Amino acid sequence: MNVLLLGSGGREHAMAWRIRKSGYLNNLYIAPGNAGTAMLGTNVPFEVTDFEAMKRFSLNNDIDMIVVGPEDPLVNGVYDFFRDDEDICHIAVIGPSRKGAQLEGSKDFAKEFMMRHQIPTARYQTVTLDNVSEGNDFLDSLPSPYVLKADGLAAGKGVLIINDVNEAKQMLWEMLNGKFGKAGNKVVIEEFLSGIECSVFVLTDGRSYKILPVAKDYKRVGDGDTGLNTGGMGAVSPVPFADNDFMEKVRTQIVEPTVVGLREERIDYKGFIFLGLIRVEGEPKVIEYNVRMGDPETEVVMPLIKSDLLELFIGVTTETLDKKTLVIDNRFATTVVMVSGGYPEAYEKGKKIVGLDKVLDSIVFHAGTRHLDDEVVSAGGRVLAVTSYGKTMEEALDRSYKNIGKISYEKCYFRKDIGSDLLNQ
Ligand code: AMP
Ligand code: GLY
Repeated sequence: MNVLLLGSGGREHAMAWRIRKSGYLNNLYIAPGNAGTAMLGTNVPFEVTDFEAMKRFSLNNDIDMIVVGPEDPLVNGVYDFFRDDEDICHIAVIGPSRKGAQLEGSKDFAKEFMMRHQIPTARYQTVTLDNVSEGNDFLDSLPSPYVLKADGLAAGKGVLIINDVNEAKQMLWEMLNGKFGKAGNKVVIEEFLSGIECSVFVLTDGRSYKILPVAKDYKRVGDGDTGLNTGGMGAVSPVPFADNDFMEKVRTQIVEPTVVGLREERIDYKGFIFLGLIRVEGEPKVIEYNVRMGDPETEVVMPLIKSDLLELFIGVTTETLDKKTLVIDNRFATTVVMVSGGYPEAYEKGKKIVGLDKVLDSIVFHAGTRHLDDEVVSAGGRVLAVTSYGKTMEEALDRSYKNIGKISYEKCYFRKDIGSDLLNQ
């Protein structure tokens, strides 16, 4: 098979690494890719939302399958674009239809979907400029803190947690008046849930599903979960608190009703579902849906999947996923993300990375890198994700940190405490 993978981060490097091992693979192309994916396939220079370029490239290179990394192309309808064009409808797209992608593209859509299918989640109210006073009343009815979410995609910045009710009302007003552009025309106000979070990934063909290894990511930039939110500073899998009992609740109360609900509503969905969950008094609740894999969670989930990933994807496109087996490695995997100093605020790029050749017993996934002449240089906020296996989480973390010590570039920064909150549970 010839496969085109969309995206350019650590998630896509990890997917490319797993796809490269498939017995079904002929050629692998990555658009636009990074210096890491270039070691596994051919990078091609078009944007992930340029569907016309994608069509031309796919026809010229006999592409059989498109695997979508980030959410943007999905929310913009890449699945529908290929399905509805007779020249390219033979090319399978791994990902939901535009309608299905609304689970991530619209917080209000996701909440209504969960209400329709009795999926446990925080209480909420959706507000527009037409019912601001209802929104303010709802805020008055809730205890502090207050959660405000811009309805649309806001580059991960659309969720605010505010302690003071008057500040929350002020922010609600600002969001409705364009603080996050169109994404905030609608705002979802939520009850604040307190608990520990984890990421559950599901692969579905629209009929059956497989639950992939559960991961936990670390979103804040500073040790001890302090400082600004980032795309993710590290991840571990599996997650000790997500035991069999908890996962059975996740399966019956969340995964099953989600897959059945999509089917009942005739929403085409052949791809990943990413459930951002929180455990409240032992019970799982949905914080958010995403319609893609997580980053950096993918950098620990892919290494733990032992099955041929393209065979699973073939099961997805032919609706025979129930006939495929998912084999999971029983070790732990951890990843620690090395970022550019200053991230998630302003940072410099183009820093020469040295020591990659010294790494032993870890896999270095490139997140934001590119080739400059014969060198690899940083090209983003998140630069590398150093993934390791271990019989225990400590052993895996130890390997990741040892190898990070061998890699350097100017103003490199990473968290020193990935996984430590889970070690004493
Ligand atoms: P989201 O973009 O929906 O994942 O939200 C970003 C982060 O905000 C989540 O990972 C949670 O840590 C936090 N969050 C979102 N909604 C809630 C909620 N209802 N209660 C508590 N924390 C929340
Ligand atoms: N790591 C969280 C995300 O990918 O959204």
